[in-house]
Amino acid sequence: MEETRGAGAGKARLRRVKAEGEDKLATLNLTPGLKVYGERLIEVDAAEYRMWDPVRSKLAAALLKGLKNLPIHEGGKVLYLGASTGTTVSHVSDLLGESGVVFAVEVAPRVAREFLEQVASKRSNVIPIVEDARRPERYRSVFSKVDVVYCDIAQPDQTEIALLNCRRHLSAGGSLLLIIKARSIDVLKDPDRVFKEEGDKIEAAGFKINQLIRLDPFDKDHALISAVWTE
Ligand SMILES: C[S@@+](CC[C@H](N)C(=O)[O-])C[C@H]1O[C@@H](n2cnc3c(N)ncnc32)[C@H](O)[C@@H]1O
Repeated sequence: MEETRGAGAGKARLRRVKAEGEDKLATLNLTPGLKVYGERLIEVDAAEYRMWDPVRSKLAAALLKGLKNLPIHEGGKVLYLGASTGTTVSHVSDLLGESGVVFAVEVAPRVAREFLEQVASKRSNVIPIVEDARRPERYRSVFSKVDVVYCDIAQPDQTEIALLNCRRHLSAGGSLLLIIKARSIDVLKDPDRVFKEEGDKIEAAGFKINQLIRLDPFDKDHALISAVWTE
């Protein structure tokens, strides 16, 4: 797995570390001393890192299961759909550093309030958007095109919602990271068939799929598709 290095401070923003005999991930803490979800803080090369739990975050699960060429880099712009209380958003924020920005969309008011209080208010590179991801034209604070659309909303029409957001906000050549929860789409269908059908929709919309990664055993019947917009 690659380490992503911050150009400024020269510290790797993403590290693979050994803990309890296993490969684990950690991100350079943008807010030293602060935890988001009870994760362990460790010191490596005189810098503080936050352990990244693959059971709590599907992006960490995908990385541990072999996601290559993570398109989230220092200084980048990410549109994140389905922020929830901000577990994964906080690690994306660490990866982007002070010079990047993550626009984080969450529709549920109670969840969004916790996200605002615990994550967005403490991290200068997180812009919260309390909106329905089905209405991307309403995101007034998205001030430019983004490099990456990340979608984890567990809805039957999650792929269509992700594509709608890409058409409006993704730059040409940008990346889509889409989490597919097979049971949100069809509880009876074989998950592999669901993943294939959702992948077909993404390709038909002008994306090239680089990887499809099943997230078992961390998340049963979930997959992540990593794709690049070629149109
Ligand atoms: C599976 S959780 C996301 C977990 C989060 N991505 C993480 O890793 O920390 C799905 C979230 O999507 C939100 N959501 C569902 N439909 C949505 C919509 N139409 N617009 C915005 N958010 C939505 C839900 O309220 C929920 O918080």
